[in-house]
Order: sequence, then C-alpha cells, then structure tokens
Amino acid sequence: MTSDQQTIDVRLDSLAGADRPDARGLGELTVEQLSGRAISPGRPQPGTGKSFFLETFGCQMNVHDSEKVAGVLMERGYRSVERPDEADIVFFNTCSIREKAAQKVFSRLGVFRGAAGSGKIFGVLGCVAQQEGEEIFERAPWVSLVCGSASYRKLPELLARVESGGRRVTGLRLDTEDTFETEITRRDNPFRAYLTIIEGCDKSCTYCVVPHTRGPERSRASAAILADVRGLADLGYTEVQLLGQTVNSYRDPTARGLNFSDLLLAVAAVPGIRRVRFTTSHPMDFTRDIVSAIDSTPELCDHVHLPVQSGSDRVLCAMRRTYSRDEYLEKVSWIRAARRPISISTDIIVGFPGESDEDFADTLSLMETVGYDGVFAFKYSPRPNTDAQFMPGAIPDEEQSRRLALLQERQRQAQIARHETLVGKVFEVLVDGRHESRGQWAGRTSCNRIVNFTSSQTDLLGSYAYARVTQAGPNSMIGEQVALGIN
Ligand code: 5AD
Ligand code: SF4
Repeated sequence: MTSDQQTIDVRLDSLAGADRPDARGLGELTVEQLSGRAISPGRPQPGTGKSFFLETFGCQMNVHDSEKVAGVLMERGYRSVERPDEADIVFFNTCSIREKAAQKVFSRLGVFRGAAGSGKIFGVLGCVAQQEGEEIFERAPWVSLVCGSASYRKLPELLARVESGGRRVTGLRLDTEDTFETEITRRDNPFRAYLTIIEGCDKSCTYCVVPHTRGPERSRASAAILADVRGLADLGYTEVQLLGQTVNSYRDPTARGLNFSDLLLAVAAVPGIRRVRFTTSHPMDFTRDIVSAIDSTPELCDHVHLPVQSGSDRVLCAMRRTYSRDEYLEKVSWIRAARRPISISTDIIVGFPGESDEDFADTLSLMETVGYDGVFAFKYSPRPNTDAQFMPGAIPDEEQSRRLALLQERQRQAQIARHETLVGKVFEVLVDGRHESRGQWAGRTSCNRIVNFTSSQTDLLGSYAYARVTQAGPNSMIGEQVALGIN
C-alpha cells in the first residue's frame, strides 16, 4: 500500500503485513525453507555469496511480483538481507499509479546518491521503470538496471549483463506474450499465498497508467495455476489470493478453456485449500456465474472487491469505464441476492476533471445505495501516457481534499453502523496477527473483516478460530474466542 493512498479502511492485507513499504520479513530463511523445493545441485548460481535487498512500493501485484523476483534471485544463489546497506544489489519495485507514489521512488533513490561508485548494483523495477525508462539513468546515474514488469521473464538474463559489468541495462518491451513464471517464489506472507493468474490490462480507463506500465492482458494456463495451488497446499497454505489487474477477465489460453468462475471452482476444489480470494474485479466482466460459484462453494470467500470509481454516468463515461451506474448497481444486486452475505468493497476516485458537485453527490448516493464494507478513495492524480491528463476542468487540490474527507467520513459512519449489527455474531477467522500490547489475536473473516479478539490459547497464528464480536469499530471489530472448535 502506498502511503499516499487515502483509505478509510485497513487495506486488504494490512495485518498480514502485505502493506509494508517493503517485502522484507523472511530475509534470512533459505530458499529451501521458503519454497519447499531444493535448488538442483550443479546448477550455475552466479550470485553465490552476494546479497540483495528488495524494497516494494504499491499494490498487491507489486508485492507478489517482488516475491517472484526474490525467488529468481535466491535461485541464482543470492541471499536476501534486511537492509540496503548490507546488500550488494539493491532493487526497488516501484509504483506509478498516482504522482505521489512515483515521486516517492525518486526521493528514495536519492538517499543512495552517495553510494554511486561503491560497487553496489542498483535496479529499478516495475511501473516507474516502465514509465520513465532510460530517463531514470539520467536522474539517478547510480542505477544500472531498469526493468518493467512485462519484461520480468528476462530478468535473469538482464541481471547477468549487469553482473558482467553492463551499465544502463533495460528491459522495457511491452509487446510480450509472456507471463512471469518462476520456479521458486519467496513467500513473505506465511498465511496467505498470492498467485497471479492474469497480467497486464486491456481496458483503457482514461486516468490509468497500468495498461502502459504493465502491457496487454495475458492469462496464465489453468494447468500451471492449478499445479501452483496444489504446491501451495502441500506447503501448508490454506488461503490463496488470485491476482490480476482485471482478475475476472481471466480466459484460459489452453484448450481447456476455463473461464474465471470455472477456474475459481477448480482452485476451491484443491484439497487443503480452505479460502480463495481474488482481486481486482472489473465490473464490466463481472458475470453472474461468479456469484453462483461463491454462493455454492464455501471455500470461495464471501467478498468481492468491485471498483466503481464514480457514481456519476457522466464521469464514468469520461473515465471510459464501459459501464453505467445502473449496470454497476445491477451487478451489485446479483451479489446481494446470494444466499450467503457477500461483502463488497470498492475504489473511488474523487475530483476527476470536470467532476461537478452533482457528480460527486451521485457518488455519495451510490455509496449509500450499495452499502460498501470498505472504500479505498483517492484524489485524482494526472498521469503521463493517459488521456485524462489533457482533459479540461481540473478540480483544485483543496476541493479534492474536501470531497475526499466528506466521502471518507460518510463511509466511516456507515462502517461503524454495519459493524454494530454484527455484535454478538460468531465468525470463523484465520488468525494472521498478534497485538502483544493489547493481548489480542487478529483474524480475518471470510468477508475480509478484521476481528481482534482475546483467547486463552497461546499459539493461534495461522489457525482457524471462532470469535464472537463484542464491540464494533470503523475498521475492525473486537471479540472473544468461543469454543466452537479450533483446528
Ligand atoms: N488518480 C487517482 N487514483 C487512481 N487510481 C488509478 N489511477 C488513478 C489516478 N490517476 C485508483 C483507482 C484504482 C486504484 C488501484 O487506484 O481507483 O482502482
Ligand atoms: Fe487501470 Fe482501468 Fe485497467 Fe484497472 S481496468 S488497471 S483502472 S486501466
């Protein structure tokens, strides 16, 4: 999670640690411990003895890309370390979704200006790398590798060039059919395993850099995905989160031809998997069979993240979101008609060029109609290589801030009210954290709500427990464990 994200909720993974500004945590474990797969003896390992530090900015996809990059490095014999000053090679996996996020990368890079000539290797990966390209070498000449995520497949080869003294090595092509397949992925979250099923994006929302930075949509073969899920279950993971910028646009490229809901059902059927999550869904490709799959399959979590961006048809059209307010609300009505209560969260942009008071009021009224369980709201930020940057009617920053604060306060009140209705109810949670000072365990319900609860048990991390809600807060609930069964 980038610090400029204006959220009123705890980001989906905060307690599990995925929103940390870096992907550190298990730095000193060996690759065998992390992956359960040994490196084959005799394989060339050019990095043997060298160490790397990898810092991650941005979304869940970036966090998971970093896990894969770390896996590639470890497979080549590099050792992961916790601090950049201990490392021979320093990588930044970057985010450019909003201007502040991109600026942060350059200010972080600036910290290492003094290390130029020290022999350390610096590399910039991800969206800023793709967006700024070789310009990065001009702004930060101590950087010797710039590689966008669509070229990660080539990363080992690019690294080899840097290792043998190459300067200004780039991987910036977007015209690839490849997805980033790795033999070994370093897993930084011990309880939830991330799995990319589709990379890139074929939509063309007028505000968004992602199609430019991540390239066209590429779905992975279903057999490879399912093999990965079985491998994760063998490693002891019970929860997997399927990732994609438009995860529900998934189309199996092989003869098997699974669509997204087929894939969900197949993943949920893998023995040992108890929870399947997926993010992010695009409303246009959100079909009824996804709701039916969730409704009929307890392993599919009761939560859909369905970014609406705006409640105004005029703004939706200017954003080129390809659906209207009513079409979006119709999809919400399918979700609401499910037998299981399914929570819905969303992303909203405020202050898009030309957004009038009336348009903004439409967004507030849509929020009220839907009754979101979580809203991630952002001030519109003009981005390079997007159509919206040229649109007239820029909204001044103070007005954007006013709208954002108003929206967030509305949602805060809505969440308190929603959580109050849950007091007294019992939820199964996967325990993924501990608040030592408060003597509480932290767990997530299938609906992705956080329950911080007390228990007489001393070791609950990673297990499933039942907690009764005793108190409601805006972002989480407080509870106590009940003896319905622990496993
Ligand atoms: N300005 C503000 N927010 C943006 N997002 C994407 N691009 C921009 C931008 N230019 C938001 C959208 C998206 C989320 C990941 O980031 O709400 O769903
Ligand atoms: Fe960006 Fe739109 Fe693609 Fe989402 S669907 S990644 S907002 S272009």
